[in-house]
Amino acid sequence: MNIVITGTRKGIGRYLAEEFCKEGHIVIGCSRTESDFTHQNYSHFSVDITESRKVKDFAKFVRKQYKYVDVLINNAGAASMNHFLMTPLDTAEKLLQLNYLAALSMVKEFSGMLRKSEHGRVVNFSTVAVPFNLEGELAYTASKAAVESMTKIMAKELASMKITVNAVGPTPIHTDLTAKVPKDKMDKLLENQAIKRFGDFDDIKNVIDFYISPKSDFITGQIIYLGGVSR
Ligand SMILES: NC(=O)c1ccc[n+]([C@@H]2O[C@H](COP(=O)([O-])OP(=O)(O)OC[C@H]3O[C@@H](n4cnc5c(N)ncnc54)[C@H](OP(=O)(O)O)[C@@H]3O)[C@@H](O)[C@H]2O)c1
Repeated sequence: MNIVITGTRKGIGRYLAEEFCKEGHIVIGCSRTESDFTHQNYSHFSVDITESRKVKDFAKFVRKQYKYVDVLINNAGAASMNHFLMTPLDTAEKLLQLNYLAALSMVKEFSGMLRKSEHGRVVNFSTVAVPFNLEGELAYTASKAAVESMTKIMAKELASMKITVNAVGPTPIHTDLTAKVPKDKMDKLLENQAIKRFGDFDDIKNVIDFYISPKSDFITGQIIYLGGVSR
């Protein structure tokens, strides 16, 4: 399959790129900066996906080079943890731009290529912070709540193009994104999960594998949270 993944320089995106390449898929990754991951099946593009012009150029290049895309994984994201009264509006705006609007513009630009696939798939990233209505994470959580609405509405609007749209909602997992969260806050979060442990990269890939399987043509508009978290 031809798989486009955003945010592949490090963290979850990097793991997904490496694993899908190992499985023989073609992976087209991007992040703002260069990646040191090299593989014969991997191409990396330096794209800031919050710049819509650059997303258009990226899509144009991919269309020319690969013709079609089977899977788009909107993984790139950022978080900010603070009481909302202490969060500058600018921070909230940046999170909305990356977590929600950039993902939206990626789907807009790549939907034509996804349509050419037999089993077009979009996988978005939410978080358990949404069903937890996590205090101290308003800006991040609100941007991911927007991703959830986007997932459900796009699922309806892209169904006639045979493109499914789903999302994965990870629990905390060890990456740079969570590195600065105080331990007591993290322990409290894990305590609210049915299965009280950190997630790992493969827990996420397992959900994505399910969504992108050709057998999952009838699965769309779903949000799967890890760790036994539910709404
Ligand atoms: N880690 C967790 O516990 C957790 C829990 C729930 C949900 N999630 C979600 O999982 C996803 C991945 O998180 P992660 O933990 O792997 O984060 P991470 O380690 O901080 O990695 C973020 C990735 O996104 C890229 N990126 C950031 N801004 C970008 C931009 N403007 N344009 C293009 N690429 C950009 C970064 O590369 P550059 O710096 O080179 O741009 C990097 O490769 C996010 O959507 C996050 O919200 C994570």
